[in-house]
Amino acid sequence: MPTISLNLPGLGLKARNDGAEAQHDAPALPRSPVQARQLSKRFGANTILDNLDLDIRAGEFVALLGRSGSGKTTLLRALAGLDRISSGTLDVPQARAAVFQEPRLMPWKRAWRNVTLGLKIEQPRERALAALEEVGLAHRENAWPSTLSGGEAQRVALARALVREPQLLLLDEPFAALDALTRIRMHQLILSLWRQHRPSVLLVTHDVDEAVLLADRVLVLEKGRIAADIAITQQRPRSADAPQFQKVRAQLLQLLGVEIEAPAEAQPEPQTPTPIIAPFNFSNFSI
Ligand SMILES: Nc1ncnc2c1ncn2[C@@H]1O[C@H](COP(=O)(O)OP(=O)(O)OP(=O)(O)O)[C@@H](O)[C@H]1O
Ligand SMILES: [Mg+2]
Repeated sequence: MPTISLNLPGLGLKARNDGAEAQHDAPALPRSPVQARQLSKRFGANTILDNLDLDIRAGEFVALLGRSGSGKTTLLRALAGLDRISSGTLDVPQARAAVFQEPRLMPWKRAWRNVTLGLKIEQPRERALAALEEVGLAHRENAWPSTLSGGEAQRVALARALVREPQLLLLDEPFAALDALTRIRMHQLILSLWRQHRPSVLLVTHDVDEAVLLADRVLVLEKGRIAADIAITQQRPRSADAPQFQKVRAQLLQLLGVEIEAPAEAQPEPQTPTPIIAPFNFSNFSI
């Protein structure tokens, strides 16, 4: 298949417009649509990404974990073409879209106009409506952003990404500001959209359970590089109760430097009962 490459000078970034195959004679696996090689990003004297290598295969759902300040957003912004890299190479599909923690809607534009913002396409309203339909918001096409709930606004942001038919969908903590139940619905929505459209996905999250519930592969970013790369082989829908799930969760928490509590039976009974507000428990849900 012929490949067309766009070189974006100064960004150190090549954007392809197809899922291009390797261009050499040896029979090879299909080339990953996302390839970072020796990618570095520095802010002044601070090296945030340090000769990082990354591959994301076509249609693969990858989650990226890492401590705060480890460079997750920096990597995502580089993949989105929003920031230039300091050195190395980055090969990404031309069709890509990003959704961030905050929906970033233009308050003076109605929902459907936000969806097609910046796009020069035919029948923008129909296309916007179709995307809003996919996220269950066709009935709010004319809504002003200020009248949308947090979850609705984030779904409009998702529709704005979908309408671009991305081969690479970049998600930077898109559910972090949502309440726990809305978040579960968003997990279901994102999985169903992913199954239907099959983009490669990179989901940045702080939530280990979210990463293990959704992704094919979970990466941990540390000291500017991918320090761990764990395949999640558990069948979907996944249950957080499954021993396999708990094992991977424990492994990831340990990699992130989180102390894991001893099993409940090993803990001494408190002398006087104290009221406990239990954290939201994903293990009651499977998606
Ligand atoms: N434009 C910038 N100028 C200078 N330093 C920056 C800039 N953007 C990010 N940084 C620094 O790079 C480091 C990584 O930031 P980044 O936002 O990528 O972290 P993160 O892993 O996404 O963190 P969090 O989990 O808190 O969102 C931080 O120390 C941050 O201060
Ligand atoms: Mg971040």
